[in-house]
Amino acid sequence: MNCEIQRYILAIIFSCTIIAVHSQSKANATNADSFVLACGATTNATDFDGRKWISDSKIITFKDSLSATAQSQDPSLPSTVPYMTARIFKSEATYKFPVYPKNRHWIRLHFYPSSYENFDSRSSFFSVKANGFTLLNNFSAFITCEALTQAYIIREFTMIKLESGVLDLTFTPSANSFAFINGIEIISMPEIFQAVAMVGFSDKNVHAESYTMQTMLRLNVGGQYIAASNDSGLSRTWYDDSPYIYGAGFGVTTEADKNVTIAYPSQESKYIAPSDVYRTARSMGPNVTVNQNYNLTWIFQVDVNFTYLVRLHFCEFHFDKVNQRAFRIFINNQTAELEADVIAWSGGKGVPIYKDYAIYVNSRTSDYQLWLALHPDVEVKPEFYDSILNGVEIFKLNDSKGNIAGPNPASSSSKSNKSGIITGSVLGSLAGIGLVFGLIAFLIHKNRKDKDELSSSTVGWLPMYGSSRSSETNTTSKSSGSSRISSLGGGLCRHFTLAEIKLGTDNFSEARVIGVGGFGKVYKGFIDGNTKTVAIKRANPSSDQGIREFCNEIELLSKLRHRHLVSLIGACEENNEMILVYDYMANGTLREHLFKNSNFPLSWRQRLGICIGAAKGIHYLHTGAKYTIIHRDVKSTNILLDEKWVAKVSDFGLSKTGQALNQTHVSTIVKGSFGYLDPEYFRRQQLTEKSDVYSFGVVLFEVLCGRPALNPSLPKEQVSLADWAITNHKRSTLQDIVDPHIKEEINLECFKHFTETAVKCLSDHGLDRPSMGDVLWNLENCLQLQSCQGTTQLAANERANDATLLSIEEDNETSNESEVLSLNAAFSRVVDSKGR
Ligand SMILES: *[C@@H]1O[C@H](CO)[C@@H](O)[C@H](O)[C@H]1NC(C)=O
Ligand SMILES: *[C@@H]1O[C@H](CO)[C@@H](O)[C@H](O)[C@H]1NC(C)=O
Ligand SMILES: *[C@@H]1O[C@H](CO)[C@@H](O)[C@H](O)[C@H]1NC(C)=O
Ligand SMILES: *[C@@H]1O[C@H](CO)[C@@H](O)[C@H](O)[C@H]1NC(C)=O
Ligand SMILES: *[C@@H]1O[C@H](CO)[C@@H](O)[C@H](O)[C@H]1NC(C)=O
Ligand SMILES: *[C@@H]1O[C@H](CO)[C@@H](O)[C@H](O)[C@H]1NC(C)=O
Ligand SMILES: *[C@@H]1O[C@H](CO)[C@@H](O)[C@H](O)[C@H]1NC(C)=O
Ligand SMILES: *[C@@H]1O[C@H](CO)[C@@H](O)[C@H](O)[C@H]1NC(C)=O
Ligand SMILES: *[C@@H]1O[C@H](CO)[C@@H](O)[C@H](O)[C@H]1NC(C)=O
Ligand SMILES: *[C@@H]1O[C@H](CO)[C@@H](O)[C@H](O)[C@H]1NC(C)=O
Repeated sequence: MNCEIQRYILAIIFSCTIIAVHSQSKANATNADSFVLACGATTNATDFDGRKWISDSKIITFKDSLSATAQSQDPSLPSTVPYMTARIFKSEATYKFPVYPKNRHWIRLHFYPSSYENFDSRSSFFSVKANGFTLLNNFSAFITCEALTQAYIIREFTMIKLESGVLDLTFTPSANSFAFINGIEIISMPEIFQAVAMVGFSDKNVHAESYTMQTMLRLNVGGQYIAASNDSGLSRTWYDDSPYIYGAGFGVTTEADKNVTIAYPSQESKYIAPSDVYRTARSMGPNVTVNQNYNLTWIFQVDVNFTYLVRLHFCEFHFDKVNQRAFRIFINNQTAELEADVIAWSGGKGVPIYKDYAIYVNSRTSDYQLWLALHPDVEVKPEFYDSILNGVEIFKLNDSKGNIAGPNPASSSSKSNKSGIITGSVLGSLAGIGLVFGLIAFLIHKNRKDKDELSSSTVGWLPMYGSSRSSETNTTSKSSGSSRISSLGGGLCRHFTLAEIKLGTDNFSEARVIGVGGFGKVYKGFIDGNTKTVAIKRANPSSDQGIREFCNEIELLSKLRHRHLVSLIGACEENNEMILVYDYMANGTLREHLFKNSNFPLSWRQRLGICIGAAKGIHYLHTGAKYTIIHRDVKSTNILLDEKWVAKVSDFGLSKTGQALNQTHVSTIVKGSFGYLDPEYFRRQQLTEKSDVYSFGVVLFEVLCGRPALNPSLPKEQVSLADWAITNHKRSTLQDIVDPHIKEEINLECFKHFTETAVKCLSDHGLDRPSMGDVLWNLENCLQLQSCQGTTQLAANERANDATLLSIEEDNETSNESEVLSLNAAFSRVVDSKGR
């Protein structure tokens, strides 16, 4: 009781100081002195989100500068504006922006390292300074983007108030080099910083309002990506936090009820973060015992020898009383806060609040990492042993010399170290921007390079299902030596102990083996007290695959989640064992049900359902994230089926194209699987989402015809299913190659619609192919048509057609017809022999 009263008093005191803080930050948030420049552009233009970018050509003319257009457009660019044009500087040059002296300003620099006429961004190194602050030093946009496998990069800084009223942005090329810039934003912002206490010192404050900072990271904890256009007026981008969570303790994500409104304590506090940040949170979970025994932990990679401002956003939307939820906050293992109680701080349900902490990170004590951990504060006996967080921002403060630039990531020539460095500097130096997807793409791309693309078996690192003991070609990459999951970004996926794995597989019992590959064996296993069935893949110790790369890949892949994508659950590395744990797919691959199990053929409706599921998975990769992910290896062995026959795409996230970056280094090896390869990609070596659409078209025909994409034992013109289907489409004889198992079931309208869609997917030119969204829509239509009553079945119609053909066009068609019939007979034999 006493405690309650005490907390109530505390709540009043706190809410007063907070209001005071907010009124202090009364600032001018008008955008009167904001600039959004498309550098090197000749005209004003709007980007994909409808934002207007002003050409910089009229504003300033530089003597030693030129404007240039990028020679190629990477498909992952969010918009051509401002990335397709650049201003290039051969010597030092300065933009001067008149700014309102009482306001802080965001500076956002956009870089797209491509080739600009004679300027290859690979050889571009430069520094950027602004009013005595070094924002970037000997910066290479190329190296940075390559490490991130992103096509472009945005760097965000926040500049202190400039009494002079002029913001000077100076680009200085390094020796024998040039500088370039694609877009500049100077955005007026209110002063949102104030004095902050140093963690671990009772008496040391950092006056954050007098620092220029770089945004390292901005996360909507427990929530989703928030686009700049949906920010609360300061055009910030917020990202999902799950890639940064350490270990198995993911906690649970929660969302405010619709009837809870976010009640900002003041008009100014709206600028702090948009309500979407406060409406979602991550907390520890319902089990008090579990919560007492773990820390909800995030790990961020940072540059050393800098002070960081860690801003935590909170909003309590479940509880409304003090001491219902009280917790401790640790930053780099030091106590930043005891008895953190959001209601006590904010004064009520739905009221947002933020807390700032400053910490110095040096190389000796914290190893390029910044840890944030939450734990229930059991000592104050809260009603619930839990903790909560809604958002995090991390800012790097200028050092005493005015520097905020970190080093470039290690360049790709130092290959053996690459992955480690990437995890370090990427996570560290990222101001967001599709980090996870970028890394996934990079790592898979890398992995894929090492694979034999002709192999028709399940690809390298994926678990294999069913009993197919396919032999895989070994990878050629060299193991990069000792590695520990824990050292890789702090372990972003769930960690299992070897004991857990042994228990779950009967000590790797041979009876549990469900697949064998070049990487090792796959076991069916159980985790979480036998409640969950999983596929456990154990690396063969002699496997050549770079374990470190492998870990990285896995840790990042575990974050891509969708109902129609196979999930990686976690990994175990102990006693030199490298073990991966995936969702178990009870029904194996689509392929084995199409051609290997003709005793229990899938019905046409089942097949349609599976196609729709797979299409949803691929559609999600293409559009579900802000950054397009091109699968690059869509095929029936990569579509897995769970116990309810729900289709899940596996081996996803292959690569966005690196063409723009690798202009001169044109890969002569086209990746993918034969039989599914997009001919345009083959010819032009340009990868787009439409390559996946092509491959998916082949899968649709596999499903319809019940034969593999490639069958070398057939006569030449039939070897490739794609070619054979197109030939039959032209001859209007597609119904002849339909899988006999489904011929009776399939309805004529549905058949027409389905084959039209599949044929379009196989168009020679990517532009003529539908998007995955269209394919999905069409397939759903097919399913509806199939359900329609009173329509003709294909088989019946075919019999009628055959009769007409024979009677009317007997003379012309007889030879053709009989040829087709005999081919069909041959085909049926092949199917049968495979089935038995
Ligand atoms: C905000 O800035 C505008 C123009 O920069 C200025 O005219 C206005 O007086 C300022 N408002 C306040 C409250 O400072
Ligand atoms: C672009 O817009 C700005 C301001 O809206 C205007 O001053 C300028 O003349 C425009 N430039 C071009 C090339 O249209
Ligand atoms: C700039 O960075 C590159 C690669 O990181 C390095 O080779 C070069 O020596 C650096 N130049 C200077 C002046 O530091
Ligand atoms: C902004 O939010 C709205 C509503 O949540 C959403 O429909 C829209 O797609 C978002 N805009 C962007 C660019 O993400
Ligand atoms: C909000 O809705 C939930 C159910 O959705 C209900 O339990 C709760 O009482 C409502 N809260 C308010 C303040 O109306
Ligand atoms: C909480 O978890 C512990 C350990 O996993 C378990 O023994 C206990 O039954 C759980 N309690 C509840 C209420 O679920
Ligand atoms: C950080 O500072 C320490 C001590 O001044 C120095 O030895 C170390 O090299 C610095 N590290 C980096 C990466 O600059
Ligand atoms: C949580 O983190 C703190 C600070 O690093 C540490 O002292 C404590 O032992 C951790 N608790 C658990 C349960 O891991
Ligand atoms: C925090 O403590 C954990 C566990 O004791 C340790 O592994 C980690 O390196 C520490 N982190 C920092 C930044 O000191
Ligand atoms: C950068 O930060 C230091 C504090 O370390 C401060 O004294 C200095 O004035 C700031 N600005 C510059 C240009 O150095």
